[in-house]
Amino acid sequence: MFSHAAYPAVRHRRLRQADWSRRLVAESVLTPNDFIWPVVVHDGSEDRIPVASMPGVDRLSVPEVAKAAREAASLGIPAIALFPHIDGAAKDAYGTQATNEAGLIPDAIKAVKDAAPGLGVMCDVALDCYTDHGHDGLMEDARILNDATIERLVDQALMQVRAGADIIAPSDMMDGRVGAIRGALEATGHHDTLILAYAAKYASAFYGPYRDAVGSAKALKGDKRTYQMDPANGDESLREVASDLAEGADMVMVKPGMPYLDIVRRVVETFRVPTFAYQVSGEYAQLMAAARNGWLDEERAILESLMAFKRAGCAGVVSYFAPRAAKLLG
Ligand code: PBG
Repeated sequence: MFSHAAYPAVRHRRLRQADWSRRLVAESVLTPNDFIWPVVVHDGSEDRIPVASMPGVDRLSVPEVAKAAREAASLGIPAIALFPHIDGAAKDAYGTQATNEAGLIPDAIKAVKDAAPGLGVMCDVALDCYTDHGHDGLMEDARILNDATIERLVDQALMQVRAGADIIAPSDMMDGRVGAIRGALEATGHHDTLILAYAAKYASAFYGPYRDAVGSAKALKGDKRTYQMDPANGDESLREVASDLAEGADMVMVKPGMPYLDIVRRVVETFRVPTFAYQVSGEYAQLMAAARNGWLDEERAILESLMAFKRAGCAGVVSYFAPRAAKLLG
């Protein structure tokens, strides 16, 4: 591959000299088709509540989520991902609200489907938005219980699918949850429900602003290092992805995004399955903070950060920038 001629026969700048020649040889393209837009829905009466650490991101009421869904559809964004912010008083150790058929998420799913029937709806499967301890699983003393949690997650996923969710996205990192959810979907006739597994999800500092957004930051006791991955590990991500694919995931995700592009690349090259990255809340906050200080060109930095995922081989990216970027690209 690299045995070609040398300078001056080779001048790399020839292809860069004009806009037309740069466009002609571009290796990656970024379009609105590449985005999943994460949206936080809340159960209060206010239309929109700004998230302080994420300038430009608001928690939305259910009617506002319906509007967001129409906006996503009109911008050509394929799918929206719903995250709940519920009243702290409704949280308990069991995450009871996670499986409430009359809860916030099923309401939001129905509102989105009514507003934009052609838009894909993705739902997170995990208990952290519903537990008073802020963990993704059930706790016994200081331990997170794997198998007991899976039973809750299966019920949560089935509830979401009955409400109309198209993509089930387990983000909890329990072992065996993808297989359990896939088995339950098959057994209940939901043969066509997609699973996008948060397969390589790291115990990361970059989730901070999200925990504010969904109201789990204050609740969280301890950290998530017994179930989310150690940032030191790369090979282990391949074992995680292999397990989730064997258990029935259609697509896999690496999370966070930019600090883990090496993992994205290894997963893409190893498995050649649709691979996504989650450009998480902390990445969004980092970029916006610099831009708001005048230290970065905001629009260029947004698009460059998103293009990085395409260059790394992602099928798409979950990003809070989705509507902004879609408008910039349009
Ligand atoms: C948890 C979940 C998290 C995010 C999505 N689902 C955070 C966590 O694991 O604590 C993070 C999203 C973000 O930071 O943007 N089930």
